[in-house]
This record gives sequence, structure tokens and C-alpha cells, in this order.
Amino acid sequence: MRVGVLTGGGDCPGLNAAIRAVVRKCEAGYGDEVIGYRDGWRGLIEGGSVELSVQSCRGILPRGGTVLGTSRTNPYKVAGGREAVLATLAKDGIDALIAIGGEDTLGVANRLAGEGAPVVGIPKTIDNDLSATDVTIGFDTAVQIAAEAIDRLHTTAESHDRVIVCEVMGRHVGWIATYAGIAGGAAAILVPEEPFDVEAVCSYLERRHQKGRFASIVVTAEGALPAEGTISVASPELDQFGHPRLGGISNTVAAEIERRTGFESRVTILGHVQRGGTPSAFDRVLATRFGTEAVDAAHEGAFGQMVALHGPAVERVPIYEAIAELKRLDKRLFSSVAEVFFG
Ligand code: F6P
Repeated sequence: MRVGVLTGGGDCPGLNAAIRAVVRKCEAGYGDEVIGYRDGWRGLIEGGSVELSVQSCRGILPRGGTVLGTSRTNPYKVAGGREAVLATLAKDGIDALIAIGGEDTLGVANRLAGEGAPVVGIPKTIDNDLSATDVTIGFDTAVQIAAEAIDRLHTTAESHDRVIVCEVMGRHVGWIATYAGIAGGAAAILVPEEPFDVEAVCSYLERRHQKGRFASIVVTAEGALPAEGTISVASPELDQFGHPRLGGISNTVAAEIERRTGFESRVTILGHVQRGGTPSAFDRVLATRFGTEAVDAAHEGAFGQMVALHGPAVERVPIYEAIAELKRLDKRLFSSVAEVFFG
């Protein structure tokens, strides 16, 4: 078989581990040849590719980023893009294409599979917002990075009696904010799924500070939404998939906290730090399991399917199940666990 592989959308730690697993399983397990397409779907439109081998993938397991590069190119939004992708697959003699991506990349994979292209998906995104899998590659590492940052923010906040608003990624969902906030002992966590009233956040902080603590960490997802009729935030520009380019809500939240409570407040936006650097052991193992299973799926002709973690098992699900609806935060986790520690 000739197997193609690409990484699309925002990068995350663990992509190289998945590429390496695909290559190893293909070459050593089946005697396949592997072609890596550069910069996500753009590589199939413009023809940028590289031959991959066990030898060329040595040393990439612990490295962040993706050796193939990535982009947010959408072939269905580029003139002639879809036709170019199909032509490249035919020209290169690709029998199976493994697309490693989030909702956008897998959305394209699903459409192509619907048109008969032999595509298998692997779920990745630090946001953890893909349905039909317990977890995506990159989430565990991002949470670890954010939790470590919050630990560090505690000590400086305590030294200065400050509130620090720490902004983490999460465009539409609050998985990173909630996990990192619980792990880091946040006094409040703001997520897109639960519109917040900044007045309630101030009450948590005032209650906490009356009890002899004068420093607090508030964790906010970049996509957190103020409840209607409270404060307003600027509307961001959109990317090729129509997603808002977010970042900066923490500035508004911190300014409001300081204005309403008088507590000196600061902001830390973790941004792309959460997507960079070495993957956690969990993400390396997950990516390795997903990569090897995707190759088996390709050999069994399971096209239009995505590999997914369900409890202890790696299974296959139709790609459309993963992208039909975003996997929003578990309400019970937020209300019965996270909120218990607010204030
Ligand atoms: O991949 C999803 C994500 O991590 C979002 O949480 C964030 O809004 C977005 O990527 C930012 O991506 P970029 O700045 O690379 O376009």
C-alpha cells in the first residue's frame, strides 16, 4: 500500500508521535510506503510532500510541533482545492490517507471520504472538543502546561496580594480551563459553556479575601462569554474556517475585578505556550496507539472512520460522529466539582 499522512489545523504536542507510529506500523508491520504531505491540506493542493521512513522519523517521538508542518487551509474554500486534492491522491497512487486533525481537518476528511476518498482520521486538538472520543491528542499536555503555570502564578500572586487572571486556550469549550483550574486551585473558572457574571466572580474573590487570603487565581478560557447584560468584549476577526481569532478576554476581566473590588489584578495569557514543547507520556502513548490503529483501519478498508479512545480501548467511529457536534464541557464536572472550590 501507499499511505499518505498529514497534520492539519493548530499544532499540538503528540503529532510527531502519531506520525512516527503511522510510519513504523506501515513500514515494519505491512511493508507500506509512506508519503507525508506538508502543511495539512495545502500539501495536497500544492503538491508539497516528502517520503517518510522509520529512519527519517528517528528522534521525533518527544518533539513538539509537527515535522510535516500544518495549516488551516480548507480545500473546499480554495478555488479548485477539492479537485487538486483528489488529483494529487491519484497522481501519487495513495491507497489510504491518514488525516491527523481537529474538527476542521476531520470535517474536510469526512467530506472527501463521502466522495469516495480513502481517508482515515486521527483526533488531535488541545481543546479536547471532538465528540466520539474520550480525549484527543494534545489535551493532556496542554493541561499539564497550564497547571504548572498556575502553580507559578500562585506564588507571585501571594507575594504581592494580587489577583491574577490566567487565560488559557479553548475557543468554544472550557476543557483546558476546567481541568487546569481544578488542578491549580483556581478561585474561579470561566468557560464558554457557562456565561459568567463578573459581579459573581468578584463576590467569590471578596469572600475568599475576607477569610485571610489576599491572592487568587482566576482561570478563563479565551472563549469565555460574559452573561448577557453584563460586560461586553470586542468581536474578533474570523479565519478560513470561520472561527474567531480569540485572545485577550482576561484583560477585560482583570480590569473589571480591579475596578469593582479594588484588588490589584494582573493578567497572564498562556497562548501558544500550551501548544508547544514536548508531549506528556500520556499523549505519546495515546498518539502511538492512535497511529498504529489508524494503519490497521486503513488496511481493513475502514475509510471514513476515525480512531477514538473509549475507556481503556482504542476503537473506530465514523468521522462524522466526531465532528457533528462539539464535545462541550461535562456540566457535572463543572457544577459538582470545579464550582465547589470557587471563592
Ligand atoms: O486548535 C485550537 C486552538 O488551540 C484554539 O483553542 C485557539 O483559539 C486556536 O487554536 C488558536 O490557533 P492559531 O493562533 O494557531 O490560529
